[in-house]
Amino acid sequence: MPTIKSLFVTRLYHGKLAELGPAVDPDELEASCFSIAEDDEAGQEWCEENGFPGYTSYASLTDLPWRFPIFKTLVAALDAHVAAFVTDLEFDLEDRNLVLEDIWINILPEGGIHTSHIHPHSVISGTTYVVVPPGAKSIKLEDPRHAMMMAAPARRPHCREELRAFVYPGPQAGDVLLWESWLRHEVPMNMDEDDRVSVSFNYRWE
Ligand SMILES: [Fe+2]
Repeated sequence: MPTIKSLFVTRLYHGKLAELGPAVDPDELEASCFSIAEDDEAGQEWCEENGFPGYTSYASLTDLPWRFPIFKTLVAALDAHVAAFVTDLEFDLEDRNLVLEDIWINILPEGGIHTSHIHPHSVISGTTYVVVPPGAKSIKLEDPRHAMMMAAPARRPHCREELRAFVYPGPQAGDVLLWESWLRHEVPMNMDEDDRVSVSFNYRWE
């Protein structure tokens, strides 16, 4: 019998924030995201000037974990999730560590999208989900080998998830997704009248 196996795999980590590390109060995290967004005038201006739908703290607040204790606790929990993913990935970090590079809030209103992108200069990227209204579409992950598939046929509908060109993991509030930072992803349009709230982050090798 021939053997067929998967090579060069892309790992995706999908867990519950509460499963590892210190407890993060979900209500406090949600309230903090909204109050920080409301107070961050520089961030609001940046979003307006750059045509960014809703709010992100990415360009204006680089010190969330130092300013807000709930974010310090959140980072401690994320550190534990990232460590678990590093174990799965069998990374040899030598005597160095993966450390948080940046962490930011995203509030995506109805009609908002985040177009396709990667996170250069980092090793692990991810998002933890704070509010996911029913009409908010899942993050979309893309096969990194698309550019090489010039003449490849499309896959059958409902083919195995590992064979699909696009994957929609469907994270819910309280979930954590982690991936390697080279993995291209986008957030399709929020079709819900309520905001989709998430906190995204990058880890670098230090
Ligand atoms: Fe991203």
